[in-house]
Amino acid sequence: MCGIAGYVGPRNAVEVVLDQLKRLEYRGYDSAGVAYRNGSALKTVKRAGKLTELSGLLGSKLPVSHLAIAHSRWATHGAPTDLNAHPHSDQSGRIALIHNGIIENYLELKEELVREGHVFQSETDTEVAAHVIGREYDSGVELDEAVRRGVRRMRGAYAFVVASADEPEKIVAVRAASPLVIGLGDGETFLASDIPALLPYTRRVIVLEGGQVAVLTPAGVVVTDVNGASVAVHPFEADWDIESAEKGGYEHFMLKEIHEQPDVVHQCLLGRLTPDNRVVLDQVFSNHVLQDIDRVNIIACGTAYHAGLMAKFIFERMLRLPTDVFYSSEFRYGDPVLSPRSLAIFVSQSGETADSLAALRLCKARRIRTLGIVNVVGSSIARECDRVLFTQAGPEISVASTKAYTAQVLTLFLFSLHMAQVREMPGVRIKETVAALRKFGDYVQDAMAGEDQIKGVAAKFKDARLVFFLGRGADASLSLEGALKLKEIAYIPTQECPAGEMKHGPLALIEPGIPIVFGATDPDVREKLASNIKEVQARGGHAIVITTSDDVTLGAITDTLIKVPQTGNTYLNALLTIVPMQLFAYYTAKALGCEIDQPRNLAKSVTVE
Ligand code: G6P
Repeated sequence: MCGIAGYVGPRNAVEVVLDQLKRLEYRGYDSAGVAYRNGSALKTVKRAGKLTELSGLLGSKLPVSHLAIAHSRWATHGAPTDLNAHPHSDQSGRIALIHNGIIENYLELKEELVREGHVFQSETDTEVAAHVIGREYDSGVELDEAVRRGVRRMRGAYAFVVASADEPEKIVAVRAASPLVIGLGDGETFLASDIPALLPYTRRVIVLEGGQVAVLTPAGVVVTDVNGASVAVHPFEADWDIESAEKGGYEHFMLKEIHEQPDVVHQCLLGRLTPDNRVVLDQVFSNHVLQDIDRVNIIACGTAYHAGLMAKFIFERMLRLPTDVFYSSEFRYGDPVLSPRSLAIFVSQSGETADSLAALRLCKARRIRTLGIVNVVGSSIARECDRVLFTQAGPEISVASTKAYTAQVLTLFLFSLHMAQVREMPGVRIKETVAALRKFGDYVQDAMAGEDQIKGVAAKFKDARLVFFLGRGADASLSLEGALKLKEIAYIPTQECPAGEMKHGPLALIEPGIPIVFGATDPDVREKLASNIKEVQARGGHAIVITTSDDVTLGAITDTLIKVPQTGNTYLNALLTIVPMQLFAYYTAKALGCEIDQPRNLAKSVTVE
């Protein structure tokens, strides 16, 4: 998510790391900072805002230094302020640390450190990590050993980079989850969170694996595991051009973001599940308030609206809580009837969509409780809602939303499980559901296995003049999102509706050869759906059915069968079908030669009415 840069060697280190951060700018960020060796000390300069702000602080004549680490932060915990920007320092002020990811047990560690007299400047988990490592360093060990000892105390998915005033030619980097790559030069060594930041300097690259600690000096790199045992590394020649490197080797950001979803699931769940399989959402309202809610209104636009539709299904089925979903543009002008005990949920990737923001202000003026489900920390909707749950999906660059949708649905699902705990809903099997959630990232990965099959399906139907998307129950809400993806990027008209509605009109549009994509994961309505499949086939339609791996009935009556893993949970099964639908839209658009990441007439963030 955030950008990391590091350099040790004969060049001007500050100049190198600033240039590296610039090359990572396309990922989005909201503050930046650098720590560089300055005589016998480490000097830290950091600032909220863009890199130009940081450069302004550093002045036109950059300080000369031969070791520097730098960071561009895309806020996930704590607002994007000067204080929360990285690098952070330990209690002694000797070490500087930058960090990507989340330390799950940071509150526990912070309490322990506060009891020992440590004083903190920011609210970040990063500063806690700096203090944990600093405390080990104070015992007299070398920096790399202090990092290894410190890391053994931390839980979560993260990557750190640390430098010390006392060790002038050493940078220590550790990867638990978030990516880190090392670039080998001649008498100089580079570090970054992403390959594009290395390419102007070197193409000899090492990708650090999870659980590895790297010690960088001008002479090269030594890698160990967290216990200090040495690990063999295998540098490779990165032959990507810079543009494809930004996309992680994928041809488009959209494909990269589709493939990031297993990791996004992981990020989204991080810190929200307990070891005994319960859900913890500290950021939401008190139990008393959650018990009082008598209905929910979900307000959003586009893909976020579709995530809201899925949530309605879950809230009503699982919580028996009446829920309505509104387009923000309709809600704000619709003089809505709002119960004083209701909860208004605003779902937004950007947190800046003009209609959603106006609808939020309307609810606030009417003194309705508001909850944001937002991706961008520090955005207007995140700031103005009473409470926020961040989706933690990382920056999304492609206009057509993919990973943000998955994270929105999951976050809403977590909220509904939290509500079920608080409201003591009988019959909601929290533990089993949380156990299924833990494996969901792997299931999403498994669902990608059908990519080649879907490429073939897309090639076959790329010239269709209309594509249907049908389903029942949760699958019906997913089919709306699948249809939106196709029309957004492949410009193919779609017809989407609950399968049971076909006979009331849309069936008239079926012609020989028209593809109909069915989401068919719910066994309770499978027979009904089988009848719908037969109806369209009888009129010459081609049924493309997405179902779970354990299904034995639909294969026999289907023209094209696509399987996703059986997760053991109805809602998660339905959510998995978004993966083949996203891939179908992507490969259809690609086969048609469309501009995938920037579709015509559309914008990523709609900040005007
Ligand atoms: C635009 C984007 C969509 C997005 C919608 C709502 O239409 O192209 O991808 O779903 O806005 O945006 P939000 O940032 O509020 O989720």
